[in-house]
Amino acid sequence: MEATSSHSSLCSYEQYKETADWLLKHTSHRPKVAIVCGSGLGGLADLLDNKTAFPYEDIPHFPTSTVTGHAGQLVFGRLQGQECVCMQGRFHFYEGYNIHKVTYPVRVFRLLGVEALIVTNAAGGLNDSYKVGDIMLIKDHINMPGFAGQNPLCGHNDERFGVRFPCMSDAYDREMRELAKKTAKEQGCDSFLQEGVYCMLAGPSYETIAECRLLQMLGADAVGMSTVPEVLVARHCGLRVLGLSLITNKAVTDYDSSEKANHEEVLKTTKHRTQDLQKLVSEIITKI
Ligand SMILES: *[C@@H]1O[C@H](CO)[C@@H](O)[C@H](O)[C@H]1NC(C)=O
Ligand SMILES: *[C@@H]1O[C@H](CO)[C@@H](O)[C@H](O)[C@H]1NC(C)=O
Repeated sequence: MEATSSHSSLCSYEQYKETADWLLKHTSHRPKVAIVCGSGLGGLADLLDNKTAFPYEDIPHFPTSTVTGHAGQLVFGRLQGQECVCMQGRFHFYEGYNIHKVTYPVRVFRLLGVEALIVTNAAGGLNDSYKVGDIMLIKDHINMPGFAGQNPLCGHNDERFGVRFPCMSDAYDREMRELAKKTAKEQGCDSFLQEGVYCMLAGPSYETIAECRLLQMLGADAVGMSTVPEVLVARHCGLRVLGLSLITNKAVTDYDSSEKANHEEVLKTTKHRTQDLQKLVSEIITKI
């Protein structure tokens, strides 16, 4: 039982270290904040000043990204004076990456000296009171792939990153959420700011009507195909986490509805509300 596929695909501490050292050698930026840009939200990285960008394929041991709408580079720079690093394009489990590869960058961030992780995503709204274009602060998550044995922390635990059984009841930093709410108010976007529970499914197929109804019953407010693995690994290695979901479509829960989820709609909506979300994130960053 020892040599399961998840064990053999574990990345070693030395690999993460090699990647981090390579990056530190190739840039003088020393970010304290890392941002993971979700579907259609890669524009955040374009806002950085004094940018240095590394295509994923140039970075030792880095996986490479394949989905349309994901650029695939690591961008270092300053956002309103604050040094940060952006993942422009993330790795998804549904692309066929091993769950450890999906979260690879997070431990590299830790070794770069990053202390806080901001994760963004595009998600489907399950809560009836949510509207398309709302921004949801993630308060908590439901890790569906985890229920099925897909947790990035499975396998040998390296104590240099964190403990064997990390706590997750405080996964989404309360102070950072309060800061986000205050900032949203100042910017006049509190009218479309929500706070709720994000549920991750593996994808790539969207949810059936029965599945949406089930998730609603479980207390999920939004559903998507990312974020949770990164958050688990970030918390394990002691990063503070802020999560933001852009609600790009409403989950279909009615058999008489003719609506259908599609990726183009997701990208179109994100374009529309992207400005607000970018403004919010860059303002939050100056205050962290
Ligand atoms: C801009 O980035 C370069 C390369 O990383 C660095 O050498 C330089 O000091 C930076 N300039 C400013 C004003 O931050
Ligand atoms: C939906 O969101 C509203 C507003 O955030 C919240 O008050 C409510 O409890 C949520 N509904 C469910 C069923 O969780």
